Amino acid sequence: MSSISLRQIKKSFGALTILHSVDMEIDKGEFIVILGPSGCGKSTLLNVIAGLDACDEGQIVIEGKDVSGLEPSERGLAMVFQSYALFPAMTVRRNLSFGMEIAGTPKATVVEKVAWVAKLLQIEALLDRKPAQLSGGQRQRVAIGRALVRSSSICLFDEPLSNLDAKLRAETRVELKQLHETLGSTMIYVTHDQIEAMTMADRVAVMHKGKVEQFAHPQSIYEKPASLFVAGFVGSPAMNFIDGRLDGSGRFLTGDIAIGTDAYAFEERQPSGEIVLGIRCEDVTVVDRGAPESIPASLAFTELLGADALGWFDCLGKRLSVRLGIKAARSMRKEVGLRFDMSKASLFSRASERRL
Ligand SMILES: Nc1ncnc2c1ncn2[C@@H]1O[C@H](COP(=O)(O)OP(=O)(O)OP(=O)(O)O)[C@@H](O)[C@H]1O
Ligand SMILES: [Mg+2]
Repeated sequence: MSSISLRQIKKSFGALTILHSVDMEIDKGEFIVILGPSGCGKSTLLNVIAGLDACDEGQIVIEGKDVSGLEPSERGLAMVFQSYALFPAMTVRRNLSFGMEIAGTPKATVVEKVAWVAKLLQIEALLDRKPAQLSGGQRQRVAIGRALVRSSSICLFDEPLSNLDAKLRAETRVELKQLHETLGSTMIYVTHDQIEAMTMADRVAVMHKGKVEQFAHPQSIYEKPASLFVAGFVGSPAMNFIDGRLDGSGRFLTGDIAIGTDAYAFEERQPSGEIVLGIRCEDVTVVDRGAPESIPASLAFTELLGADALGWFDCLGKRLSVRLGIKAARSMRKEVGLRFDMSKASLFSRASERRL
């Protein structure tokens, strides 16, 4: 049984359609990341699931029960907001226990739960402080703790790490992932940070303009992006794109260059029309100028990244990135050829922007 089913969810604010028919089946215990740029509708979707916003059309089923018409408190979910939303006048202990007290949880259970979550999140020493006396990371832990004491089997997170510095963010990311493994609850986590999505998710839903463009394992999102948008949004540096078309024998033509596509596994039977070839920097090799199956390119500059380097080449009227070893980057000639590993490439229809 699915933990959460979203069926044809639609939501508008006035004349503006924010969610266009979102469908999603989430399994019990999955860690789902909803990834997308600012304004694409991530928070709206989470609020609709939580019941903080009503959807205009569609159905939300949680653990077999249609909750579409239910109040947030009747849906059995826990939610962590981006702003943490802690009560400033209450101590950490009270922030953790308040919800349970309101719900009429027996006192002994409240004490037990607060102790459990404080230990789990290592905030035992902070229980008598007020939120203003905590760092951003500590506040964020309290907000997560407040969601966890509700012991619901489903937790929703809206960009919970966005206010943390890079180091704390990385640490908390790992902690949250471990927490998920310990608790086994279903988690839906909203972010615009692709590293969080790639490292934490069992599956990622990439959203764009109120639609889910792809819902898949992070590795397939990276290797086989379903659309031009997904291809350009996921991965750093961004995927290289080259415009062209296919000839009668299936070669990709761009300018006076033809690239064989025998190694490419087409999803579509007879692709035609204008095509965009996408290739990641690690799937391009530098060869001698004029080598077979190579494209003339000249080095613009290199960036040393510590462990490896990026070469930026002018090629086919574009600036393309190529992942290089440090040694190769240091001794790179200017005039070279580039060879694409077509088994790793992505081809998209220019018209539909979908993968071919
Ligand atoms: N109450 C509202 N009334 C009108 N428009 C709204 C309302 N809430 C959100 N919107 C609009 O809906 C769109 C989606 O907003 P949403 O908050 O879901 O985006 P998001 O993907 O969470 O973005 P971010 O990453 O910036 O948090 C935006 O264009 C926003 O301006
Ligand atoms: Mg948001």
